[in-house]
Amino acid sequence: MKSTIVVLPGDGIGPEVTEEAVRVLQDVGSKFGHEFTFTDYLIGGRSIDRFGTALTAETLAACKASDAVLLGAVGGPKWDDPHAKVRPEQGLLALRKELGLYANLRPVKPFPVLVNVSPLKPEKLKFVDLIVVRELTGGLYFGKPRGRDRVNGFVRAVDTMEYYDYEIKRVVEFAFKLAKSRRKKVTSVDKANVLETSRLWRQTAVAVASGHVDVLLEHMLVDTASVRLITSPSSFDVVVTENMFGDILTDEVSVLTGSMGMLPSASLGDNGPGVYEPVHGSAPDIAGKGIANPIGAILSAAMLLRYSLHLERESVAIETAVDQAVTNTLRPMDLGGRLNTRQMTDRIIAHIVSNQ
Ligand code: IPM
Ligand code: MG
Repeated sequence: MKSTIVVLPGDGIGPEVTEEAVRVLQDVGSKFGHEFTFTDYLIGGRSIDRFGTALTAETLAACKASDAVLLGAVGGPKWDDPHAKVRPEQGLLALRKELGLYANLRPVKPFPVLVNVSPLKPEKLKFVDLIVVRELTGGLYFGKPRGRDRVNGFVRAVDTMEYYDYEIKRVVEFAFKLAKSRRKKVTSVDKANVLETSRLWRQTAVAVASGHVDVLLEHMLVDTASVRLITSPSSFDVVVTENMFGDILTDEVSVLTGSMGMLPSASLGDNGPGVYEPVHGSAPDIAGKGIANPIGAILSAAMLLRYSLHLERESVAIETAVDQAVTNTLRPMDLGGRLNTRQMTDRIIAHIVSNQ
């Protein structure tokens, strides 16, 4: 198979971890007989420095024409001025919107060898295998009006939480389809006791569920969910929620795996390329040192193979290799180990085998 993959390394540790994920993909390509071509483009802060905008028309066009996009991270202190007109995050949000990536998948399945790194008790982590489907192109992140004005001598800031029924329907539908291939349970998270958008969310979820009688639907308020995800994480299968709730809850559940550096994500739409990126950010404090955990990016590459290129065997080969490469003594530094970014990746590559 021949595929073109656009790589958007971005800022901070983004370039370090995407470089390693690309090495893993190249290795899979040669072991399984595929031809992947990679082209790098700028996004985020480095794109602002060079072109004055976080996402150029050229980068966007290249992404649209590709089979899949592998992204590192955007942002950093250099571009953090609250008065700045252009911000690195705008590039990421515009990319999600322009590619119609309404479903953001963030799977959480702790590695048995790492249960002692997590702040949770090991017995809580047994059987944890959940996936959050976060709505990604609506809600507070995109609603209008937004901005600032002056009212009666006071400065006022406004953001708008807005959802159309079709936006809710398609992402909940996505969650139900995913649940069918798993343990057949969907937890829809909202704040229906307060928010009108949440009441529409819940009503729409109920309507979608009527078309999937083999899947169990439960509703949970977001504040309750923030507790249960920690106190009984193994009771969840598929969690579906709106953009901002999903942003917050996925950072929270990342601690189950021991480190945020472990978590991959996939952002998907109805057609066109998906965007694959680790859940961790640009981590400016360790950028340039070569010590970042590459596993979030490498597992994102595995998701890329699964969801955009439909190469399930190859995807599983990466996941299995990661599982085998991380041991009690050999692990990245964020997990209390001593392996740097390159060494961790080398170990993973050494474990990738094609069973053809
Ligand atoms: C994420 C990040 C982004 C978000 C930021 C960088 C805009 O936190 O992907 O979770 O809030 O969506
Ligand atoms: Mg986030």
